[in-house]
Amino acid sequence: MTLQTELEELRQHARASLLKATDERVLNELRVSVVGKKGALTAILKNMKELTVDEKKEIGQLANQFRDEFARKVEEKKAALEAAAMNAALASETLDVTLPGTARKIGTRHVLTQTQEELEDIFIGMGYTVVEGNEVETDYYNFERVNLPKNHPARDMQDSFYITDELLLRTHTSGMQARTMETHDFTKGDLRMISPGAVYRRDTDDATHSHQFHQLEGMVIGAHVSMADLKGTLEVVIQKMFGADRKIRLRPSYFPFTEPSVEVDVSCFKCGGAGCNVCKQTGWIEILGAGMTHPNVIDASGVDSRRYQGFAFGIGLERIAMLKYGITDIRGFYQGDVRFLEQFGK
Ligand code: PHE
Repeated sequence: MTLQTELEELRQHARASLLKATDERVLNELRVSVVGKKGALTAILKNMKELTVDEKKEIGQLANQFRDEFARKVEEKKAALEAAAMNAALASETLDVTLPGTARKIGTRHVLTQTQEELEDIFIGMGYTVVEGNEVETDYYNFERVNLPKNHPARDMQDSFYITDELLLRTHTSGMQARTMETHDFTKGDLRMISPGAVYRRDTDDATHSHQFHQLEGMVIGAHVSMADLKGTLEVVIQKMFGADRKIRLRPSYFPFTEPSVEVDVSCFKCGGAGCNVCKQTGWIEILGAGMTHPNVIDASGVDSRRYQGFAFGIGLERIAMLKYGITDIRGFYQGDVRFLEQFGK
């Protein structure tokens, strides 16, 4: 067999093998076996020694031609294999972004939290500091320091859950009046604080009562704080919460820690004062308790009541939220029913 024929056979074999090569590894093995150092082409060319100069020239040309052609075909095949692999990957990894996803339910802030934060924003805007208190309080701060000594009859209105004789779940946030007053440095200016949080009473739960509810205590004490300031402050707050054309009215009331004490009403935001079911035909809705801080409370905190006086108020957060959103059953706040809660999503 002549070298020409051998070369031609190698060419045929290479072409057929190229067609069959299915991946890059096989292709590379083929390349090495054909044109590698120990490959078929080298083997054929080893026999050139016996040829004449002219024959050598001819075979050399054919061999070079074949080498170039083969190299080109290998590159082409390699490119084709890569493209095929890419297409296969694209086909198998397709992501259908039009498929409906799994909807994630995102909660909302609780309506009471929203109410509390709304009030906090209003008071912070008027220079008040927000103070946090503890729900477990001593009898001393909850009662005695706010002018409710042991055996005071007004304690009956706030029967509570006692942990020991001296420790209870606080019945109101008013203990914070005493706690903040006794630490305030009056040489640095007036005390202006609010203190929101949960309070507890031994109540039977119904549509308007709960053994746990929330208050926001407020207090301002300074050298020149008057009842006019109390009225003006509450008017601003109530108008911000319930609308600019709301009016307020103060009615005499009784709290041991304020003197005089008042019950504050807001003009009905449903009927505007004409009388309706919301205001029980009176045109007014009772909204909070307040008063001028009793001198006994100021003195008990180590502050001189002849120099400093002021006011305090207690706002029921549930009551505000119920009025504002037309909620008729207080139990809705605590049951965690999403259908109730999501109505107040912001
Ligand atoms: N602590 C009173 C209550 O719970 C509310 C109140 C606070 C009244 C401050 C006057 C001043 O009923």
